[in-house]
Amino acid sequence: MRVLVTAGPTREPLDPVRYLSNRSSGRMGYAVARALLRAGHKVVLVTGPTALRPPAGASVVRVETAREMLAACRRHWRNCDAVVAVAAVADWRPARAAAVKLKRGDAATTLELVANPDILATLARTKGRRLAVGFALESGDGRQEAWRKLRGKNLDAIVLNGPRAQGAARATLQLLRADGGEARLGPAAKEVLARRLVRCLFGPRRSPKV
Ligand code: CTP
Repeated sequence: MRVLVTAGPTREPLDPVRYLSNRSSGRMGYAVARALLRAGHKVVLVTGPTALRPPAGASVVRVETAREMLAACRRHWRNCDAVVAVAAVADWRPARAAAVKLKRGDAATTLELVANPDILATLARTKGRRLAVGFALESGDGRQEAWRKLRGKNLDAIVLNGPRAQGAARATLQLLRADGGEARLGPAAKEVLARRLVRCLFGPRRSPKV
């Protein structure tokens, strides 16, 4: 299969030197990409800015903003068989990004924000028989929320994790499937979790690693 993976945070500019973003390190998304490659799949990795080295063998598209991520994903989605959206997309962006650096005296005390597009929901709307998998970052018991997102975004499965997973090396995941199936993965290192997850979603490894 050719799988589209989104990873990392997005950055939403306020001016040429400032942005809104989040704590995502990209680790989970990169680990999923690596696990897919290991399992014999082709990967298009659309990634926000991270400090990580991209997995060898992936076709990597670097983006900054949610709108750039959407455009890149749209371009590649037509040639992919599945999408796994791990990116922590900023839900809002500043209504205006200044062309030159804002000076201390210019700054308004309130920031006007506008909603960003939902990348995964946009792709999954046209998925047909292709596989669409999301991640849900929830504080507290997020199962209900995760189910809501799975249905609302037309997904085949959603992976639930807690806010402590962001930026951390280890995590515990819950996999919820559209058919009602549930599985708990971990606690374990993200690399290990990613392999288990890929196995659950895409079946066993297809070709031995050379
Ligand atoms: N997602 C996306 N585009 C967005 C927001 C989220 O593609 N603008 C994807 C994420 O990559 C993830 C899933 O949707 O796979 C759920 O993301 P999450 O941030 O948990 O949910 P939201 O839809 O943003 O909902 P909320 O902020 O209300 O929790």
